[in-house]
Parts: sequence; structure tokens; C-alpha cells
Amino acid sequence: MCGIVAYVGDKVAYPILIKGLQRLEYRGYDSAGVALINSDIHTYKCLGKVKDLETHAKGKHLSGTIGMGHTRWATHGEPNDTNAHPHTSMNGKFTLVHNGIIENYAHLKKELELRGYVFQSETDTEVLVNLIENIYQEQKVDAEIAVRLALSKVIGAYGLVISCTEEKEQLIAARKGSPLVIGVGDHEYYLASDASPIVEYTDQVIYMNDEDVAIITKDDLILKNIQNDAQKPKIQKVELTIDEIDKGEYEHFMLKEIHEQPSSIGDTFRGRISIDKTKIFLGGIIDVMPKLTQAKRIIIVACGTSWHAAMVGEYLFEEYARIPVEVEYASEFRYRNPVINADDVLIAISQSGETADTLAAIKMAKKQGATIVGICNVVGSSIPRETHAGVYTHAGPEIGVASTKAFTSQVTVLTMMAFMLGRKRGSLYDELYKQLIQELTLVPEKIKHILRSEQYIKDIAETYKDASNSLYLGRGVLFPVALEGALKLKEISYIHAEGYPAAEMKHGPIALIDENMPVFVLATKDKSYEKIVSNIQEVKARNGKVIAVVTEGDQTIKKLADHVIEVPDCHESVAPLLTVIPLQIVSYYIAVMRGCNVDQPRNLAKSVTVE
Ligand code: G6P
Repeated sequence: MCGIVAYVGDKVAYPILIKGLQRLEYRGYDSAGVALINSDIHTYKCLGKVKDLETHAKGKHLSGTIGMGHTRWATHGEPNDTNAHPHTSMNGKFTLVHNGIIENYAHLKKELELRGYVFQSETDTEVLVNLIENIYQEQKVDAEIAVRLALSKVIGAYGLVISCTEEKEQLIAARKGSPLVIGVGDHEYYLASDASPIVEYTDQVIYMNDEDVAIITKDDLILKNIQNDAQKPKIQKVELTIDEIDKGEYEHFMLKEIHEQPSSIGDTFRGRISIDKTKIFLGGIIDVMPKLTQAKRIIIVACGTSWHAAMVGEYLFEEYARIPVEVEYASEFRYRNPVINADDVLIAISQSGETADTLAAIKMAKKQGATIVGICNVVGSSIPRETHAGVYTHAGPEIGVASTKAFTSQVTVLTMMAFMLGRKRGSLYDELYKQLIQELTLVPEKIKHILRSEQYIKDIAETYKDASNSLYLGRGVLFPVALEGALKLKEISYIHAEGYPAAEMKHGPIALIDENMPVFVLATKDKSYEKIVSNIQEVKARNGKVIAVVTEGDQTIKKLADHVIEVPDCHESVAPLLTVIPLQIVSYYIAVMRGCNVDQPRNLAKSVTVE
């Protein structure tokens, strides 16, 4: 949520900030703004996307070798010009950009109003910038001290970059809860919410920790915490290339990421499956293997698409490792009073590694003694830093807001974990274990095969692009895929879509079925095949339109359904990885045909760093 970028050095800041904001736009795109610092500070901001900001700033004073930029996902106050960042304090001393939420802003605002402060916007951020200014002016301290004192009064989350008119050569950055990365160049520093705006200029980065404060000039970086204790900056090499964050030949990131899945899944299991395909080795969880194999229960917490991956995981862990699993929405789990025991293992799944609710859920479970394992995509993000052990998905940067390759990589990790645990616990005999590993390694080629039907799937999308409602049905391990298919469609095309366990359809959704209702059915050959065929008949008896995802060569469903999309024959354990692909493609094309902004759907953000 919200993207921050900043620069201090000898180059002109504006183009760096604009390019950086474009890379961060996936985090939010309600409004955008920059502040450029020279002998004066020039701030330009407006409602809309980064391209609107460029139009707005055109021809204006754009020099300055220090600057900050922001792309917003609104929390407090509607998206408009005034609520856009950067925000400047009432007396003009401080300018800042903020990602996060100041939870006690109302209380702080009242106190400031009593001191004569007047506010322009409805944002919590404007309260913070004025709080800093008020401390600076009343206590006559340096800007950095004013920032630290102000932050000690703040409840909430923040990633911040701050500039003071009296100390123009420096930027102050601070982080708690919202990510901030410092790029270290040659007599220059970059700051950003993730490394994507930085990699073009340097591969040396410092991931700021919670409560870190950085005081940065072009030649110097001082890192301390809010309490003023010096912190040692840990410079790391960032493993990210420009190609990975570029759309290349594709019209949208989502389409690129759909097509990347044969390789991203391969990257997920590379080095983790032995060359002879007989063993799985997950180095990141080796230390907690005894805990995992003896766990009485596994709790999986996640949000959004990652929660759907968790549900696939539940099925696989119970089926192959015979461990009871509970899947929880992180936001619900953290505010219940869940029973957590020391022999529980909690797995947190998150593409970004920054989702606020997931992060809070693992902190809570950790306090109560559970072993915490992370499955994350973004290396060095907050969640992996809170866990006892973990497995990176290595799917590469996912920029499209609708998650595709991150989902299949998460499922790949969960599948490997389930097989490995099954073998270790003795619930999977050796022959089957090897056969399952073999099946998993065949998935990338099988996805390539499905991608060859893209045009055929696009034609199906054309038929249903004007639907108002849709239903997705699946059973067993394919029920979460139905949920994921429905989520993909609704989030990017704004067509109402519901995922249901196929048999549950009779308890409600069947009432909605008529000749205008497309019903996507996941109907590959598995142990519930006969049952799903009956469900298809029930839909057809009510004139619903059936689009069935079936195993190659299926003749029975072909006779019943309006359309079939074939996927290669596979073992049922890996069917989620194949069957989700046509659903991603259908959603993508329907959204494009409806003129929707596929990579930046309305109201959504890629990384939800507020609860
Ligand atoms: C947002 C994104 C989804 C994502 C969810 C969880 O809603 O738009 O694509 O699945 O957050 O994010 P995470 O990074 O924790 O997987």
C-alpha cells in the first residue's frame, strides 16, 4: 500500500523519482506526488496515476538533486489532490511522504489544533508532519531529534521520508511496519518501499528494520533507532534484475506473469528436488524439521490469494502427511483468542512478505510459543525476518496486482512440504513418494501445453465477457482453485463471481442459475469425478452455461458442457497447478475485453500493509 521513493545525490532527482513511482505503482495508484529540493522545495501532486503527475508537473521547476515521491492507496481521506502526498507542515518547515497508518492521529490532531495548527487534508500523514514541526519549533531541537520524538508518540505503522527546510541537504527516513529499503550508490543514496526502483542504479541495499531512523546526505548515512542507539547498517546484494520488473513484449504484467509460470514453478523447485527426482530437500526449514514432523497440528495463516494456496496446502498436508491442518484468515486469527500450543507449527504464506495482518498473526503466535515457518516470495521482506524458518518461493517479482505466478509457486512449495513430511512421518511409502515427485517435475511442461490453448480460451472469454455473475465449482483440492478462479475474475473484471464446493451449490447458489450464468467447473479425472459430472448435470438441467476444465480426452463431459478446456492428464495432487491456469487466462481476457485496467484494478493494492 502506497509506494515511496527518494533520492539524494548529484543527479537530477525528478526522472529517478518518476521512474521509481512507475515501478511502485502496483502498491497503490489513487494519487501521486513529488517534492524536489533545491534552494527551495517544489511540491507537485495530483489525483490519478504517475502519468497524470507527469502531465501536471510538465514545464514546471523540476531541478533538484534531492527529492521524494509517493504513489498513494487511500486510507484516511478520499483520493484527491489535497490528500495526495507529499504533505507539508503548516509553517512549511517539513515535507514528508508516508506509507502506513497513524492510528492515534485523531488524538494527536486535537492536541495540535489546540496549539493553533490548521489542517488542509483529511490525512493522518498531515498530522504527523505537523507534529514533527511542532516539536521542532517548541523544543528547538534538530530535525532528526524532532522526528524521533514525534515517532515515539505515534501508534501505528510507517515508512517515512522527511525533509526539513533548515537542513535541506539531508533526508530522514524511518520505518515501523511498512518496508523501506536504502540503495547505496557512489556518493548517492536511494530510498524506496522495495528494491525495484533502485536496482537500475545499484545492487547494494540496506533493508531498514522496525524503528530504524536513517539520516542521509549524499556522502553519509547514519542509522540509529528511535531511542537514539546507533545501528550498524547491513549492506546486502539485491538479487533482482531489470528484466524481471519489465513488461517486455507483453501488454500487461499479468499476462507476462501467467506465461512465466512454467519457469517460475521450475525456479521454485530447482535445487530442492534431487536430479534423480527421488528426494525433496528444503534447506530453509531443516532446523524446524523435528518440530514439523512431530507437529500435532499445523495452522496456516494468509490473506487473499495466499489464503487459497493455504487451502490447497491443507488438503495436501492432511492427505499425504496426515497432519491436521487449520487454515485461517490472518485478519480473523489475530483478533480471536486462538488456542496456540508450543507443539503447533504456524505457516504464514505471503507473496509480498509485508501483509500487515499476516505479520501481526505470526508475531502473536510466536509470543505464544508456536514454531513459525514462512512461505514468502519477496526476499528480505518483513515476514521472513519474523519467522523461525522458511522457504522462499523464488517466483521472481510479481507486479500485476492479481496474483498468478506467486500462487502457483506457493502451491509448489506446499506440495513439496506435504510430500516431504509424508515421507518423514511414514505416511507416504517410498514408491508413491517418488511417483509424486516425478509428477511435480512434469508440471512446467504441462503448463506450457495449456498455454498453447490461449487463443481457444480467449474465444471462450469473448462469449462470457458481458456476464454479470458467475460461479466457480470444484471439489476436494480443486475447491480452493474454484475460489481462486472466482477471485481472479471479480478483482480484475468487476464481474460478480463466487467459488463454491460443487456439492454445496445445491444449498443456495443453484437458485441463481439460469441461461445467463456461466458456471466454471473444475472437473479433472480424480476420485470425485463421478460426483462432479452429476453437479454439471444439475447446472445444465437449469440451463446454466458450463465451462468445464477437464482432463485431456474426456468425452463424457464434452457431451454435457458448453465448453471444455483440456489440461494434460496428471496426478490429482498437482491438479491445482494445472487447472488454475485456464481460469487465470479467462479472467485476464474478459477484463481486457471489458476495458479494465488489468494490472491496476480499482481500489486494490498489491501489498496490503495496513490492517
Ligand atoms: C492483496 C493482493 C493479493 C494478495 C493478498 C495477500 O490483496 O492484491 O494479490 O493475495 O494481498 O498478499 P500477500 O503478499 O500476503 O500474499
